[in-house]
Amino acid sequence: MYDFSISADQSPDILYDDLTTAARALTDGEPDAIANMANVSALIWQYVPDLNWAGFYRVMEDELVLGPFQGKSACIRIAIGKGVCGTAAATNQVQRVADVHAFPGHIACDADSRSELVVPVCKDGRVIAVLDLDSPLPDRFTAADETGMTNLVAAIANGLG
Ligand code: SME
Repeated sequence: MYDFSISADQSPDILYDDLTTAARALTDGEPDAIANMANVSALIWQYVPDLNWAGFYRVMEDELVLGPFQGKSACIRIAIGKGVCGTAAATNQVQRVADVHAFPGHIACDADSRSELVVPVCKDGRVIAVLDLDSPLPDRFTAADETGMTNLVAAIANGLG
């Protein structure tokens, strides 16, 4: 059993430091990317408030394929360059979307989603996956969330592909 001391009632900096430490502990020494994505999506789902979806899409040839996640069943394949996730994968840029309805080509997997944060996962200089977080709240994700999730992903990227 894993029991992490992480409270959602703390500053974003402390929350993300704790989450990153926990994500490292979960993935260190484990080479299986699917197992690591499963545990990290569960970790984020447990400790980050106001999410309705949290998980990974993996880059497979010219498309993204659904990976481990928490939340409702979701679109399985997304073309690179399409939607928020495909844009993050194509550009290797974080996509922090305050209003998904205003994002051209947004793919609605869960009608409850109002805002979204997608972080590319890079290994050996190429995008191997994206971390996708959805919220039912408009403008849910702050610059601190973007920085915190980017650092978390970078810390464990070697174990994600
Ligand atoms: N909204 C995403 C699709 C994935 S779901 O949110 C889980 C997109 O536009 O790429």
